This record gives sequence, C-alpha cells and structure tokens, in this order.
Amino acid sequence: MANIDKRWRVRAGAPLQGTTPVPGDKSLSHRAVMFGALAHGVSHVRGWLAAGDTEASLASIRRLGVKIDRHDLNTLTIHGGALHKPDSPLDLVNAGTGIRLLAGIMVGQPFASVLDGSTQLRRRPMKRIIEPLTRMGANIAAVEGKAPLTITPAALKGIHYEMPMASAQVKSAVLLAGLFAEGETVVTQPGPARDHTERMLTAMGADLQVEGNVTRVRAGGLLKPFDTTVPGDASSAAFVIVAATLVPGSDVTLTGVNLNETRTGIIDVLQGMGADITVTETGLEAGEPVGTVRIKHAKLKAAEVGGEVVVRMIDEFPVFMVAALHAEGETVVRDAEELRVKETDRIAVMAGELRKLGAQVTETSDGFRIVGGQTLTGAVTDGHDDHRIAMSMAVAGLVASGETTVLDAACAADSFPGFAKIMAHLKADITEYEPEAS
Ligand code: S3P
Repeated sequence: MANIDKRWRVRAGAPLQGTTPVPGDKSLSHRAVMFGALAHGVSHVRGWLAAGDTEASLASIRRLGVKIDRHDLNTLTIHGGALHKPDSPLDLVNAGTGIRLLAGIMVGQPFASVLDGSTQLRRRPMKRIIEPLTRMGANIAAVEGKAPLTITPAALKGIHYEMPMASAQVKSAVLLAGLFAEGETVVTQPGPARDHTERMLTAMGADLQVEGNVTRVRAGGLLKPFDTTVPGDASSAAFVIVAATLVPGSDVTLTGVNLNETRTGIIDVLQGMGADITVTETGLEAGEPVGTVRIKHAKLKAAEVGGEVVVRMIDEFPVFMVAALHAEGETVVRDAEELRVKETDRIAVMAGELRKLGAQVTETSDGFRIVGGQTLTGAVTDGHDDHRIAMSMAVAGLVASGETTVLDAACAADSFPGFAKIMAHLKADITEYEPEAS
C-alpha cells in the first residue's frame, strides 16, 4: 500500500449513528484462498475481503497455478487441485498470516519456492515457524530467521509441538504441514488462539481433532471444496465499537460480524469497563457464529487486562489504548509482548503517536499503563504503514479537540478497505484525500 499516498482529516463532531456491515474477515479470507487451492474441486466464496494483505495471498495462490475466477471483488470461484512450481518468488507484501500459513503448505510440495514480502514483512520473526517446520523435516533457508524463505522439497514427518506462544499463525503453519506429513502431527497451544484453521479444515473433511488446547492432524483423503460466505471481521468492527463507545450520543449497529469467541476479547473487556454493547447472534457463516453488535456511547472505567483474553484481542490493543485514555482510573495491560512483533512494534508506535496528541502513555515490556480522563489535542500523526495504527489514530482524532491529520492512511486498506467511507456513513467527520488534491 506504500505507493498510494492517502491522508485523513479527522475532527470531533456529531454522534456516530447508523447501521453497517464491516468488510469480510481477514483471517478467513487468507485461509479461503489457500485451503480452496488444496481442495479437490471447485469452491465458492462470497464476502471475501479484498484488502492489501489478502490480495497478496490470492496473487500468490494464482502464481502456484490455481485458477481463481473473480465475479466481483468479493466473490470468488477457486478451482482447487494440484499446485505448480512458481516461476519466481511469491510476494506476500505485508501479510504475516499470508507468509506463515503459505510456508506450512509450501514445505509439503514436491517443488521449490521462495516466500518473500515487503521490507516490513522482512523484519518480522519467522523462526517461530522455521523451527517446528524444520523439526518436521522441512528444508527452509532464511537469513537470521527472516524472510525471504527459500523452501526446497523434503519428506515431512509428524511431530508433537508445544507452541511457546499462543499463535494461530504458528499453529496453522504446523497443522498445514501436517496435511503432507507421515504420521500424526500434534500441536499444543499454551492458551486459546484463533481456531479458524481447525474449523475450516474440519469442514473440508480433514482428519483433524481438537481437544482443549491440543490439536491433532493426519494426512488423510481428499479435502472437500466449500461454498461459503465470509463473515465480517471482528477486528475491523473493533474500531467502530471503540469510536461509538467514546463519542457522546452514538448509537451504531454492525451487522454480520464474526463472533468466534477467540476473536471477541475486546467486546468482553469493554463491557467489563462499562461499555454499552449488545451482541445478538443471528446464525453461522463459514462455520463461525455471526451476529449484530449494537454500540451506544457509555462512560468507561479502567481495567486490568492480562492472561488468556490478551490473545482474544491481540489485534485490538492499538485502538484499545484510545479507549483506555478515556476510562476513569488506570488501565494496565500485561502479557501482550506479541504486540512488539506485529506490523510495527505496536506498543512503542502507538505510544509515540498518541503522545503527539498530548497523551501520556507508560510503556512496559509486555504492555502499557494509561491513566484515563486525558484530554487529546488534534495533531499530525502517522500510520507507519500499519493499518491498525492508522485507524486507531483516526478514532483518537474523533475524540480530540481541533483537527487531527493521519498521514500514511492508505495502509488501512491492508485489512479495512473503505474505513473512512464507512465511518463517514456513520456520520464521523473523516475526510480522505490525496495530498496533491489538498
Ligand atoms: C492471525 C493470527 C494472529 C493475528 C493476525 C491474524 C491469523 O497472529 O494477530 O492478525 O489469521 O492466524 P499470531 O498468530 O502471530 O498471534
């Protein structure tokens, strides 16, 4: 997204009002194109997220010789079957989920491949997947445990892997490699991490069992294709949820949101702080519970956040910092050191950007402390090529005095295309512009 320069001008304004869906779930959209490619037959996907990260996965899967018909941006037909040797490195751009999951598939193929990405992705830790995949017999060459990953064919065998951190990406990479390994692959997670891979592979008929924190998989028969609608992304919903909670008078309803409980930690924590959020489950889509989320403005009290809920809201901490600034008392977050190895070091980068608005944030090695009731003053802030930083700063701008500018806002489209438009539809005072036109 770095080649497009978009900015947002944000002002506090009217209450947020209205009803809207949010774009499709990013985690499920990555998996849909990858797993659809592995299925024997034709899969149909509606509501697919057409965003920077997921487009990188789709393009990589096409480069592996898989035909994907695109009826419109969000509706795909995937002609699954054999993968073919790509003629050049696969570019996952900024997508951590893309590169880590695809590595789990590529190590099981009878041809070599190179997985690479942007400068940002090349900084992110890959040892966490290289280590277990190598134990399974995979051949992965990398310099200092970072992308590019050069994978050459090798026979895989199942392992018992105790994951040191609760990471869905690592779990998924090992389970996917397990589909191509001899014997059983067992992954134990230290606590619940998102379980989309397990749900989707089970629905496709994989030989996979989940018991508490232990998942077992064996190479089995053919994976069945699927016909599915991707629900809305709970992580995208979180920006609206926090904004509507903080802006006085707001009353917003989000429809079709993925309510998988490995993803809804932010709602639980905000409700515990006094937020007025009503969740109504309406059914199942893609094997995931979905429903509406209605948010009305409420005053928040501080919270202590740590332990298992951290993984259930790991992507939501940037915007949660904005909520904490408006909660009465001191909010303390612990056990969230993973934030330091996301698209950016989200603790340091958010603290730095919020300070530009006059906020006081205390960083700790595994989280932060924020005393609420702070007054924010509009300023020029930067998205740092990290979608969740850019959108969190826009939400901060909605509760700051004066005008806030978010530079490098195009990156929001890595996960939430149309963010500014949806917020404007909800009556938020956000204008998107390109600097030449300003
Ligand atoms: C994801 C897992 C999480 C999350 C990321 C998406 C996934 O990462 O932060 O945005 O789709 O599996 P980790 O597995 O590294 O915690």
